[in-house]
Amino acid sequence: MVSEVGYGAWGIGGKQWLGGDDRESLAALRKAIALGLNFIDTALAYGDGHSEQLVGQVVRESGQTVYVATKVPPKNQLWPARPGIGIQEVFPYRYIIECTEQSLRNLGLDHIDLQQLHVWNPEWIQQEDWRRAFEDLKRSGKVRFVGVSLNDHQPDSALELIETGLIDTVQVIYNIFDQSPEQRLFPLCQQRNIGVLARVPFDEGALTGQITRASQFHPADFRSFYFRGDRKRQVEERVAALKRDLAGVEGELPEIALRFCLSHPAVSTVIPGMRKEKHVEANVAASERGPLPESVLAILKKHAWEKNFYS
Ligand SMILES: NC(=O)c1ccc[n+]([C@@H]2O[C@H](COP(=O)([O-])OP(=O)(O)OC[C@H]3O[C@@H](n4cnc5c(N)ncnc54)[C@H](OP(=O)(O)O)[C@@H]3O)[C@@H](O)[C@H]2O)c1
Repeated sequence: MVSEVGYGAWGIGGKQWLGGDDRESLAALRKAIALGLNFIDTALAYGDGHSEQLVGQVVRESGQTVYVATKVPPKNQLWPARPGIGIQEVFPYRYIIECTEQSLRNLGLDHIDLQQLHVWNPEWIQQEDWRRAFEDLKRSGKVRFVGVSLNDHQPDSALELIETGLIDTVQVIYNIFDQSPEQRLFPLCQQRNIGVLARVPFDEGALTGQITRASQFHPADFRSFYFRGDRKRQVEERVAALKRDLAGVEGELPEIALRFCLSHPAVSTVIPGMRKEKHVEANVAASERGPLPESVLAILKKHAWEKNFYS
């Protein structure tokens, strides 16, 4: 039983998202748990274990049941997974086990609630590396549930994997701009009782309404790549059109963006990144407002936007 709003812990890793600090991140994590959030999504790759260390510290000191999900990074360090690259280069058996052990040390916990592969390539479906590693990790008690974090904007890459019955969850991009998981992935997840982690609910900040032509990011910040070139202008225009259509609808855009995700019954938890306490407060409160009315969902449907800013 995970909270509808979980904690996306990429930003607090510090290396790919700049401008935060550990004191602020720890305060945000503590606030989230105090407000009843009980699910955190981190990864070994987030700040090379730094995010896991902060998460573990707060979870241990909380004395509460907080479920922690983490991820095994691709051994070849390539996000997303590329077609034609064999599993031996990305997730060999021994490597999955060793990364899990490293994550346990970073977290300072005796088990991981959900271990995920950080990329997925459907060509690996019959390979035994990931199957045996997941099975052995579960049997040893080091991991309770297993899943896969899907490549950006490729929800259908999990359809065959789900049919194997060997995974418990999928993590997928789902937000007002990318509504594609609704077509095939979500119905199958509901049918097979697969947990869904809706990631990047704000499209890396675009759907907070804070990205404008004037936004500036440090060159080493991931967002200077994501929102490069003409993209900030495109975002500003799309968000302005969205806000125009939402005039008269109660609630700020970030709240509506989260409630959009939570309105789909397949979604188990939505995991916004949030390094600031005020964002934690607003985001946790969004789940108390319930699903959006059909009339608002109909407006949002028209704002789907096919793009891939990760490439
Ligand atoms: N391949 C993968 O598996 C993968 C890839 C990407 C993300 N993820 C997971 O998904 C999580 C969420 O994605 P993300 O963190 O990349 O992006 P996101 O959740 O779409 O957006 C995060 C941004 O929104 C801001 N924000 C949060 N709440 C806000 C509010 N109420 N009002 C205004 N701004 C707000 C945050 O600011 P502050 O940080 O300053 O509070 C941050 O700049 C990640 O943390 C990670 O756990 C997984």
